[in-house]
Amino acid sequence: MTEPRLRIAVQKSGRLAERSLELITGAGLRAIRGANELLYRVENHPIDLLRVRDDDIPTFVDDNVAELGIVGYNVLKEHFPDKDLEEIIVMRLGFGKCTLKLAVPVNFDYQGPKSVAGKRIATSYPNILKQWLSDNGITAEVIEMRGGVEVAPRMHIADAICDLVSTGTTLEVNNLKPVELVLKSEAVLIKAPHAPQPDLAHIYDMVVRRFDGVTKSTGAKYVMMNAPRDHLDEIINLIPGSGSPTIMNLVDPSMVAVHAVCDESVFWETLDRLKAAGASAILVLPIEKMMP
Ligand code: PRP
Ligand code: ZN
Repeated sequence: MTEPRLRIAVQKSGRLAERSLELITGAGLRAIRGANELLYRVENHPIDLLRVRDDDIPTFVDDNVAELGIVGYNVLKEHFPDKDLEEIIVMRLGFGKCTLKLAVPVNFDYQGPKSVAGKRIATSYPNILKQWLSDNGITAEVIEMRGGVEVAPRMHIADAICDLVSTGTTLEVNNLKPVELVLKSEAVLIKAPHAPQPDLAHIYDMVVRRFDGVTKSTGAKYVMMNAPRDHLDEIINLIPGSGSPTIMNLVDPSMVAVHAVCDESVFWETLDRLKAAGASAILVLPIEKMMP
């Protein structure tokens, strides 16, 4: 009998593809090309990667074709506008952050959602847009497009658009300005209704635990410094996102050593402030792995 294999659906190409593979590799799963481009095998664990179009991931996972999937929250929400997504989402992955925004031509006199009432809005996210319109108590004509949404106003196909924005370049070069935040998105890990199956539970748990570790350690830093005992409170408050730092005595009784795990980036400005508060010998170290 062949050993059962856990299937993870990932985007084959596009905005999340590379970072998804980095997450998988970071979790110690060695993915190699399988029989075809659609299937990658993990050689050191009973896991296969199903490489598909992002729009297919919610369906594959919902149909139990794959036990897990890595997909943009935007795609998931558009697919299941009425589902309780918290039941499907295992964790937020912290990459692929972008927003879905309502945008209008730069010369459009926008005075709030009412300004687009009765107008034509082009989007690849009709379900999310319709929900936003109804939440705002307005009706508008939703024009569904598969791509190239940003050219719709120039082509006089639409008066406004609702599209993904990450750097904002696409809007800018098309003479459009963002006016409303419709949805915030990032990559999420989702699970199938039947997952985990008993015979795959141990491998499922391992993947989830390792993804959690990779996600938490990304951007996390280990910070060490010496601090004057009488400025300790001030210094601890300056350390970004640290839970409870470790304080150790030094030979000099007026000084202590402070060690902390920061779950946010540490900027030069923070180091300047720590220095000004009396901290010295400040070290910021990357964290390679973390098992919370
Ligand atoms: C999205 C969106 C814009 C662009 C925005 O397209 O439709 O075209 O990204 O990014 P920016 O703010 O950094 O310029 P995507 O890359 O997802 O391709 P698609 O339109 O084919 O889905
Ligand atoms: Zn897309």
